[in-house]
Amino acid sequence: GAMLAIIGAMDEEIEVLLADLQAREDLTFPGVTLHRGALDGVPVLLTRGGIGKVNAAMTTTYLLTQGATRIIFTGVAGGVHPDLKVGDIVVSTDCVQHDVDVTALNYPIGTVPGETPSWAADPILRAVALEAAGEVPGVRALEGRVASGDQFIASRDEVGRLWTAFGAACAEMEGAAVAQVCAKAGVPFVVIRSVSDTADQDAQVDYHEFMPQVARHAKQVVRGMLARL
Ligand code: ADE
Repeated sequence: GAMLAIIGAMDEEIEVLLADLQAREDLTFPGVTLHRGALDGVPVLLTRGGIGKVNAAMTTTYLLTQGATRIIFTGVAGGVHPDLKVGDIVVSTDCVQHDVDVTALNYPIGTVPGETPSWAADPILRAVALEAAGEVPGVRALEGRVASGDQFIASRDEVGRLWTAFGAACAEMEGAAVAQVCAKAGVPFVVIRSVSDTADQDAQVDYHEFMPQVARHAKQVVRGMLARL
């Protein structure tokens, strides 16, 4: 049957959902715990996957072995698109890995040899996420490319690079790893990120100040999606 999986990188990104998980059962794997249960009557797998692409890929693999048929990533990101403000939401069109560089062998920046230059999110999950985002009061949602890498971006120069080289809307550390694993399995995914900072010189301060609050926005979107899936 259908099984929706929801991943966040950090406790703040999943805790409200986890608190409401009914008939919860914990599945322990090396490096991560998955929680199975029902959220608003919908059977789900929910997990804090940890930070970075390796943790995200590992967690996604475990989720697939436990029968995940659709995957939603929820969390916070640094805004790259110039229109994005703290608190806004990005729904992924697709994901890239901005820290992959095999240009010395003539592959385009961001391309893993033999793989697609970007991983496309599922059109249905995207549409449902946008609709649900529209119902979160005071929140602006934008569709765009999610750039992932094992780096916290905190400089104008890096933001400029992500914008010009990739046309990225936001920067985070997991989405494209989830996307790459999902693509291999033919499992649809979407990434929903609320903007906690604008990835510039103030990113560190803004992130600490706004992350816990704005993480709620992405979770509210996930909640809104459950009724529609
Ligand atoms: N997550 C939230 N803000 C981020 C940033 N500036 N870079 C990478 N990941 C982030």
